[in-house]
Amino acid sequence: MRDVAIIGVGMTKFGELWEQGIRDMFAEAAIKAMDDAGVKKIDSFYVGAMSSGLYTYQEHLSSLMADYMGQIGVPGLHVESACASGGSAVRSAFIEVASGISDIVLAGGVEKMWDVEDGTIVLATAADQEYEAYNGVTFPGLYAMIARVYMEKYGLTREELAQVPIKNHKHSVNNPNAQYPFELSLNDVLKSSMVADPLRLMDCSPITDGAAAVILCPLDRAKEFTDKPVRIRAIGAATGPIALHDHKDLTRLDVVKLAGDRAYKMAGLSPSDISFVEVHDCFSIAEIIVAEELGFFEYGTAGKAIAEGQGTYGGKIVINPSGGLKAKGHPVGATGVAQVIEAYYQLSGKAGARQVPNAKFGMTQNMGGSGGSCIVHILEAL
Ligand code: COA
Repeated sequence: MRDVAIIGVGMTKFGELWEQGIRDMFAEAAIKAMDDAGVKKIDSFYVGAMSSGLYTYQEHLSSLMADYMGQIGVPGLHVESACASGGSAVRSAFIEVASGISDIVLAGGVEKMWDVEDGTIVLATAADQEYEAYNGVTFPGLYAMIARVYMEKYGLTREELAQVPIKNHKHSVNNPNAQYPFELSLNDVLKSSMVADPLRLMDCSPITDGAAAVILCPLDRAKEFTDKPVRIRAIGAATGPIALHDHKDLTRLDVVKLAGDRAYKMAGLSPSDISFVEVHDCFSIAEIIVAEELGFFEYGTAGKAIAEGQGTYGGKIVINPSGGLKAKGHPVGATGVAQVIEAYYQLSGKAGARQVPNAKFGMTQNMGGSGGSCIVHILEAL
């Protein structure tokens, strides 16, 4: 297996992008990534998208995107794993380069979520249709149940839970691509409208349009393209039960531990080696549980630790320097790729005012549904 590096990245701003269709967004991100890497031709590409068919009535993304990014002829593949589609695209590209089949591979992700009248129904297709969606439960409701059980079991207060979006919004102020780059007060969170008790609007990731792309190549060719390549040191992937009622413990996300442990094993690293992590904070409670499953905090302690400043600059580990899904935005198919882009910026010293100092290793964690699938990447500064 060959070592793999990232040599260029590109993304759109995240938000309500009324002027751009799905093809425009993907082409913008892909062409920016190719320009960044200085490559005119790619060997192959993957496009992660959760539900372009339901959101925009557009499928067959391999053909469409090859055409609009000026790469007709190259092989392409649409990759889907709900909100982990973007991470899955990066993983697929990694495997293709590592195997020696291709040298220059683009991994992109895209979602156009604002064009459909009721996006909640589309998102709920990633849940169990027969047992969950059909009975009216959607993702805010599923994560609200997780939050209730966690708060009861570990004594996490509503005020402590609010510190997750407060931290992430504080980080987002330094991210020019973020959808909601503003700071939140405790009052802002506690007084925002109730979505699914105990989760309020400011606990929820938003509806977002956006696209992101990275270019991978074999590590031994990376210096042909850039002085600052970043190595993908390890990948870990796992599946879990699609339905929440099949989780043995509602306060755990076993799929994250499985994927995280696989990545640590492949990298030969442990949680103490990681300086920052981009986690899938689709709802504030998710960040807390994921931080525990990845080994950064003991079970039942991450919420309090984050509330005490252990998840930000100067703390134990910087969680979501980009602003996370909550503040940067969550165009579901693009999210996993955008997380990898943030890790690339951090590890190549290009993160500007949100730079994590002296970072050697960073991690990304991208999750589908309420723990149905998960992709973890560990990246390394060279
Ligand atoms: N954070 C901050 N502001 C938000 C926001 C968020 N998450 N979501 C919406 N807003 C703002 C909007 O910009 C709008 O502001 P404006 O009135 O100044 O224009 C206002 O709040 C109301 O927005 P609206 O779109 O009407 O909210 P909504 O009630 O229709 O939707 C949620 C809010 C939380 C239900 C929706 O964002 C949602 O479903 N999020 C979860 C997405 C999800 O499940 N993703 C997959 C995870 S597994």
